[in-house]
Amino acid sequence: MRFAYVNGRFCAHPDAAIHVEDRGFQFADAVYEVWSVRDGRLMDADGHFQRLSRSLAELRIPEPRSRPALERIIRELLRRNRVSNGLVYLQISRGQARRDHAFPKQAITPTIVLTCKRLDFAAADRRAETGIGVITVPDQRWARCDIKTVNLLPNVLAKQAAYEAGAAEAWQVDADGYVTEGSSTNAWIVTKAGKLLTRQADNGILHGITRARILDCAQRLGLEVEERAFTPAEALDAREAFLTSATSFVTPVVSIDGKTVANGAPGSLARALRETYLAEA
Ligand code: PDD
Repeated sequence: MRFAYVNGRFCAHPDAAIHVEDRGFQFADAVYEVWSVRDGRLMDADGHFQRLSRSLAELRIPEPRSRPALERIIRELLRRNRVSNGLVYLQISRGQARRDHAFPKQAITPTIVLTCKRLDFAAADRRAETGIGVITVPDQRWARCDIKTVNLLPNVLAKQAAYEAGAAEAWQVDADGYVTEGSSTNAWIVTKAGKLLTRQADNGILHGITRARILDCAQRLGLEVEERAFTPAEALDAREAFLTSATSFVTPVVSIDGKTVANGAPGSLARALRETYLAEA
């Protein structure tokens, strides 16, 4: 039996429900976080909790639980679901109110939902061994992609386009022709000169927690790093390309729009960064 947590209660997953007038459901007026769980531990716990607080503050949604309270709920959820390797999903919406675009005049209680599931990290390791393909799509999102909201329709359409093209991810390209990020991952390349590039953490991308950790790892490995946008053409001309996220860690990208990157095999820096990250996580 799977369990979810909804508004203060653990319940059977098939019965977990929120109200039809929840603002998350009606307006995507909600934020979320995803933690990987490895050997029973939340990975990069601090970074994800800090980003959750920032996302809530940006939308002026009050924090419905303290961090220690959330951690207790997460531990219990993992225990009840017997998950020691997988992910935890948390969503907090502004709450339930009569439908009106503006915030409700009276204070309402935020809705809080937590679920978790098992992940096969061995399969992710195998994917990292062979590398994955990405396609490029126009970035159709709003101007505050730095807030982790559930307003994910463009990301959903981008990922679906990738799957239909036989690829694993879609790199979104802004109006100036630069890659912003994947539909659920951050994008990286290593130039021919050996420099690591990833887009600057502006409002055009989610400030990935794994991205920040990989920047630290890169610094400690003595790699030359620049945070700037790159084009798909630069990526195709690169020595390596890869992506990062909480659940995929570091995954090499070996083709873009069906054209191979370098020799079509995962690169050595992507491997070194994945190993360094996982050794420290
Ligand atoms: N996705 N960019 C986007 C648009 C994302 O949705 C994510 C995370 C990332 C990577 O961020 P992090 O390293 O903090 O996971 C970048 C999560 C995993 C998801 O939507 O399931």
